[in-house]
Amino acid sequence: MNILAIESSCDETSAAVITEKSGNPVLLSNIVSSQIDIHKEFGGVVPEVAARAHIENIIPVISECLTKAKVNIADIDYFSVTSGPGLIGSLVVGVETTKAIAAVYNKPIIPLNHLEGHFYANFLSDVKPKFPIVALLVSGGHSMLIYMSDHLEYKIIGTTKDDAAGEAFDKVSKVLGLGYPGGPAISVAAVQGDENAYKFPVIDLTPSPERGEDMFLKYPELSLDFSFSGLKTAVINQVKKIGENKLTEKNKNDIAASFQKAVIDTLVQNSLRAVEKYKPKTFILSGGVAANKSLRESLTIALKGKTTFIIPEFNLCTDNAGMMGAAAFYHIKKGDKGNNNFVADPNLKL
Ligand code: KG4
Ligand code: ZN
Repeated sequence: MNILAIESSCDETSAAVITEKSGNPVLLSNIVSSQIDIHKEFGGVVPEVAARAHIENIIPVISECLTKAKVNIADIDYFSVTSGPGLIGSLVVGVETTKAIAAVYNKPIIPLNHLEGHFYANFLSDVKPKFPIVALLVSGGHSMLIYMSDHLEYKIIGTTKDDAAGEAFDKVSKVLGLGYPGGPAISVAAVQGDENAYKFPVIDLTPSPERGEDMFLKYPELSLDFSFSGLKTAVINQVKKIGENKLTEKNKNDIAASFQKAVIDTLVQNSLRAVEKYKPKTFILSGGVAANKSLRESLTIALKGKTTFIIPEFNLCTDNAGMMGAAAFYHIKKGDKGNNNFVADPNLKL
C-alpha cells in the first residue's frame, strides 16, 4: 500500500510517501517547505501570503517527495490530504491539488482532520502506542487532552478555555521582542534564564467551594481543562512593571524561563490527573509544542512508573505530511474507502 499525503493547513507546505511494512506505516519521504522566513518579518502568519506560497510550493514539494521515495506517482494507491481545521486559503490549495491529481490517476482520497495527524505522528515511532491512550495535543491552535479507546476513536476530556499553549508561546515571545515563531525562540532564551526568577500562575480550573464556585459540589472533580490567558496577562504586567524599553537580556531570559515553567507545570498537572483518572496503557504527546525539550523531559519524569510515554521525533511534532500519512494508513486499515467529493473546512471538528 503506497499513500501520498499532502498537508497545507497553515504555513508549511508538505508532502510525504508512506508505505506498509510488516503491517506498520513506514515513511519513505517527508518533505516540508516552511514559510517561517516569509512570515517572520510580519511577526506571524499572514493568511493571504501563506496561500500564495502554498500555490508556488505544492507541485515542487510533491515532485521532490516522490523522487526521494523512489516511487512513481502511478504506483500511489491512495491520496490523502488535510481538509481542516486551518486557514481556508491554505487548506484549499492542498485539497484542490489533491483532487486534481487523484482525478487524473483515478485513485481514492482519504480526507483527514489535521489533529489526527498530530496524534498519529506517534505511530511512526518504533514502539507503537497501545490502547487505551491518553493524548496531550499542544499546538498553535489547540491544547487538548484526548482519550482514545481504539484507532480513530477520540473523546475530548480536556480543552483550553482561551488561548492554546503554542499561541501563548507566540504571544509572549512577541511581548519580549524575541520574534516568530515564539516556541523555539522562548525555549532558546529560557535555557539561559532562571525559571524561579518570577512567579507566574499555574492555572487550575477545578471549581473551588472556598471561592464560592459550585456550592453544591463538596468534592469537585479535578479539572482537565486549560487556560493560558491569565498567564499571558501576568507576563505582560511584569514587562510593563520593568518597562518595555528597559528590558535587559537577563530580564528577557528570566521571564522566558519562568513563563515556560508555568506552561509546563500546567500541562504536567493536567496530564497526571488524566492518567490517574483514565489509567491509559500509553500516554502520547503531540503538536508543535511537543518539540519543546523541557516539556518532553518534565513529562518523562512525571509519568515514569505510571504509564508508557511516547513522543514523536522532533521533526514529526510540527506540521508535516508524514504524520497525516500515518493517520491515513490507519483509516484505510479500518476500512475507509475514501471520498473524492469533499471540501476544505476551516472549522472541522474532531
Ligand atoms: O503543530 P504546529 O506546527 O501547528 C499547528 O497545528 O498549530 O504548532 C505550531 C506551534 C507554534 O505556536 C510554535 O510556537 C509552537 O508550536 N512550537 C513550540 C516549539 N516549537 C514549535 N513551542 C514551544 N517550544 C518549542 N520548541
Ligand atoms: Zn499542527
